[in-house]
Amino acid sequence: MLNMTAPKILAFAGSSRGASLNKLLLAVAAEGARAAGADVTLVDLRDYPMPIYDGDDEMRSGVPGNALALRGLIADHDALLVATPEYNGSVSALLKNALDWCSRPVDGEDGLLPYRGKMVGLLAASMGPFGGIRAVAHARGIFSKMGAVVLPDEVLLAQAQQAFDAGGNLLNETSRKLARQLGANLAVQAARYAA
Ligand SMILES: Cc1cc2nc3c(=O)[nH]c(=O)nc-3n(C[C@H](O)[C@H](O)[C@H](O)COP(=O)(O)O)c2cc1C
Repeated sequence: MLNMTAPKILAFAGSSRGASLNKLLLAVAAEGARAAGADVTLVDLRDYPMPIYDGDDEMRSGVPGNALALRGLIADHDALLVATPEYNGSVSALLKNALDWCSRPVDGEDGLLPYRGKMVGLLAASMGPFGGIRAVAHARGIFSKMGAVVLPDEVLLAQAQQAFDAGGNLLNETSRKLARQLGANLAVQAARYAA
């Protein structure tokens, strides 16, 4: 680690369901980041419910409290670790909606400020044969558009419904290693970027 303080990583999955395969994969990468010295905050988007973005609602009531809270968390961390499901070839509406709300200007502050220069590590677990490659490509485009710096490496877990044991452990050693490595790389890059 290059700097004295541990990099702060915010980790979340684009799926809210309790048995989410993306949450399981995210946990492996988060463990890798912790082992590399990062301070990882794992949040569940289920705990930040927000309506589908509507400009009229925003005019009337402003940005919802949960979006403000999540935006604050994003701003407060050096890097984001994000596992996205693939829904019909793209990221989940849950993930995109949260990112959109968190990109709105607040109190005259540039809406995209929390994202700018933020290091992002991407993963996907999908039940399909391509491991969510289309969702990750879209997520890469979205985060880049918002000014974040996405790591070139990514982790794709295909047929993820068969990838974990009953205790939620990732069975394949190579997949485990790759997910942990992504978390560790993010920790190192975030520390370097912050220094
Ligand atoms: C609306 C919907 C669309 C889906 N589309 C895809 C898809 O395009 N590609 C794919 O690999 N899996 C697709 N799936 C299956 C997901 O990979 C699977 O539900 C996965 O477990 C979701 O992630 P989670 O376990 O983290 O909730 C889709 C599932 C849903 C509900």
